[in-house]
Amino acid sequence: MKVIIAENYEDGARKAADLIEQIVREKPDCTLGLATGSSPVGMYQELARRCREEGLDFSRVHSVNLDEYVGLDGTHDQSYRYFMNTNLFDHINIDKNHTYVAKGTGDIEANLKEFNEILDRTDIDIQVLGVGPDGHLGFNEPGDTLYDGAHEETLEDSTIEANKRFFASKEDVPTRALTMGMGNIMRARRLLMIISGNKQEAATKLLIGNKIDPHCPCTFMRMHRDATVVIERKLAEEIGYRG
Ligand code: GLP
Repeated sequence: MKVIIAENYEDGARKAADLIEQIVREKPDCTLGLATGSSPVGMYQELARRCREEGLDFSRVHSVNLDEYVGLDGTHDQSYRYFMNTNLFDHINIDKNHTYVAKGTGDIEANLKEFNEILDRTDIDIQVLGVGPDGHLGFNEPGDTLYDGAHEETLEDSTIEANKRFFASKEDVPTRALTMGMGNIMRARRLLMIISGNKQEAATKLLIGNKIDPHCPCTFMRMHRDATVVIERKLAEEIGYRG
C-alpha cells in the first residue's frame, strides 16, 4: 500500500486529484468508482477547477458510485445521487447518462439486481474511498462476514451517529443502504482512500499492524496490489504512523 502524507485537507485533496487526473489523461474513457462523504469533497472541487481552468476532460469518462441510502430519492438533498450531482457532476463536463448511482427507492430488489448487473460488466479503473469511523467501506459494515457483490446493509448505530450531522436529526438518517460489496471494491484496478476526520481507530488498524479484519473492513485494502492512502500529517502523527 502506498501512503501519501498530506500537510492538510487541501493538500490531500490536490494529491488525490493528481492521481485521478493522471488516470483520466492516460485513459480518457476510463471508469471512475466514486464515493460520497466529506473526505472526497475537496478532491472533487479540485477536479472541477482543473476541468474549468486546465481543460481536464471528463466527456468520455464513466462513473459508478459505491452506495446509496434506502428510502431517499435521487432528488433528496441527502441522497448520494444529489451529493454527486452537486459536488461534482454539475461542475465538470461529464455526461450524466454515463454516471451511475444505485437507486434507493422503488423496488429495492430490482435496484440491487441492476446495480449488480452494472458492476459485473464494469471494469473500474480507480475506486475512490472514504472510511467510516468503524472502518466501513461504502456501507460494508463490520461483521463476521463480508459480502462479495452489491447488497443491502443495515447501518450500525455508530454509522448513523457519524452521518447524522448531514440530517436535521438522527431519526432522519436512513437505517438501510445499498452498497457495492467488498469484492466489487477489491476488483477495481486501483484504490484511492482519503482519510480525513476522526478516524483514529480505522486508520490505526489500516496502517499499523498486519491484520485483515472483517470487523474493520478497510483493512482489506492491505491486500490490494495497487492501493493508495492519502492521510493528513496530523492524523498520521496522532496514531504514531511513521511510514
Ligand atoms: C458514509 C459513506 C462512506 C464514507 C463515510 C465517511 O458512511 N457511505 O462511503 O466513507 O461516510 O464519510 P466522511 O468522509 O464524511 O467521514
